[in-house]
Amino acid sequence: MRYVKRTVMLSEGEVVRLHRPTFGVEGETYGLIARTTQLDARLAPSVFGLGLLEAISDQDILAGADPKDRDGDGISGRAAIVDGAIGRIGWKAGQSRIADQNVKALSLDIGIGNRRHAALWGGCTAAQTKCRDGPHGGSSRHDGLAGVAEDTATARGWRTALLWGIGLTQAVSGHAFYLHDDRARGLTEVVLWHGGEAQPARNRFAALAKRHRDALLVFLTSL
Ligand code: HEM
Repeated sequence: MRYVKRTVMLSEGEVVRLHRPTFGVEGETYGLIARTTQLDARLAPSVFGLGLLEAISDQDILAGADPKDRDGDGISGRAAIVDGAIGRIGWKAGQSRIADQNVKALSLDIGIGNRRHAALWGGCTAAQTKCRDGPHGGSSRHDGLAGVAEDTATARGWRTALLWGIGLTQAVSGHAFYLHDDRARGLTEVVLWHGGEAQPARNRFAALAKRHRDALLVFLTSL
């Protein structure tokens, strides 16, 4: 894993050093992986408050969607539709229910088969038994779930993050890293990684007087 670094200057001369992880695989033990395999990191997301997300009605989510940006605020929120239901869970809102996320993650990420999702060992070669027995034997390299390398915070498809409890990340998860691939160390870096439709918000943050920027960060951690 290597980091691509860049420096950003905010108002009043505040300097922030951003770093973005990039990936490669060296010294494969179980044979070479296909050159076309794409790799990307995923931070295990904080899960506090997730039950509340299930409790929001479909109608309320659909009422908040604005895919054609009819209100002209520059932000076109879309509801994710997964098998006819509204996607709510996961970095890309790829599951509509927490239970679905759980059974898939058990099988695909940890390798624990369950009634709804058998563990996918069929593709392993004899040389891979050690890997299969390991605690994370079913990594994405085997099951075809390898992530696609994606860039800015608002590259299409990422679910707009839940900010409730964000200030508890250190206490609950034992770290203060954010965004889908762990690239942001702290909340200032998070905001600076925003792009696309969130670029104007990011630019306003960078231009704020430092005391207002600091006040926004305190507000964020109070949610
Ligand atoms: C100043 C205003 C904003 C603040 C303070 C803010 C704050 C945050 C924070 C703290 C996260 C990280 C959550 C985590 O990793 O657990 C995040 C992620 C995200 N935000 Fe914002 N946000 C702002 C504006 C916006 C806007 C306007 C949009 C959409 C147009 C947006 C879309 C997203 C998305 C899609 C992610 C997830 C991206 C990823 O994981 O790579 N944000 N935001």
